[in-house]
Amino acid sequence: MDDPFDLSKNRAYSHWRALKLRAYPCKIQDLHVHIGRLDRPSQAELAALKARIDTFNMALVEVDPDGIETEALLSFTRALGLRRTDANLFADASAFSRIAAARADPDDEAPVGSGHSLLGRATLGDFVPYTNKPLSWHTDGYYNTPDQQVGAWCLFCVRAARDGGENGLLDHEMAYLQLRDESPQHIAALSHPQALSIPAHVHDGRTLRAASVGPVFSVRNGQLHMRYSARARHVLWRDTPDTHAARAALDRLFSRTDVFTFRYRLRPGEGLISNNVLHCRAGFGDDEDPAKARLLYRIRFLDRIALD
Ligand SMILES: [Fe+2]
Repeated sequence: MDDPFDLSKNRAYSHWRALKLRAYPCKIQDLHVHIGRLDRPSQAELAALKARIDTFNMALVEVDPDGIETEALLSFTRALGLRRTDANLFADASAFSRIAAARADPDDEAPVGSGHSLLGRATLGDFVPYTNKPLSWHTDGYYNTPDQQVGAWCLFCVRAARDGGENGLLDHEMAYLQLRDESPQHIAALSHPQALSIPAHVHDGRTLRAASVGPVFSVRNGQLHMRYSARARHVLWRDTPDTHAARAALDRLFSRTDVFTFRYRLRPGEGLISNNVLHCRAGFGDDEDPAKARLLYRIRFLDRIALD
């Protein structure tokens, strides 16, 4: 079978497109899978999860909230073939991130050993994910180097916000499909090796992360990968009319009702596992007591979820 993501292979694309659209329209509940024990998912549970991932590139997992802890989560993700984390060559506790709004404390440094140690003296509150502000559409790790792209992530809710904090989710393959239908030129522009650049992150004169230059859409081992951020600051788009048109078309997708965007507020015990689909987060109001405030656990992987 020809590569459906090759712009010269229209028949392969049409076939892939028809298969992709067959699952839609659908509701987020169609992505739901209950897992009895996070640390020991059964073969039937794994098969149910993989069927959702195969169709939607994501699944909504429900587990016992008390079962969500580091080792159980790592056992679960290992069962899905996820081994190489974004933070480490091997999935271990250092790859694990606690996502909570940082308190307004100037000495609230990025904790060492939580996947943020490279941030040095930058404070967690400098990074929007660690605030209660809205988080615009993106895929994870868009600022990573091309060979360290994030293939998959999981996000589990331990405690929900007092109000808000809903996620928006859009299968990146569906975004590709909509853009290619609108104009194959959009895909060509977004596949350019210099389509999107993220400048280096420099803090106190020290380079904490090198610049990242690469395409938005790329094909890796036959699978479509997307690298994207809707943020307006600290991103540089290739300055051509085609790139600007494609970027605007992508931006429009997020407010259209016919592109099958999911909106969902995770409850305690629920998690998302995905092949790094597009996602965003609404702002939220939190409990004053840190012990009751919104808390999510996240792990990012260089691998994609194994479907075999
Ligand atoms: Fe994210």
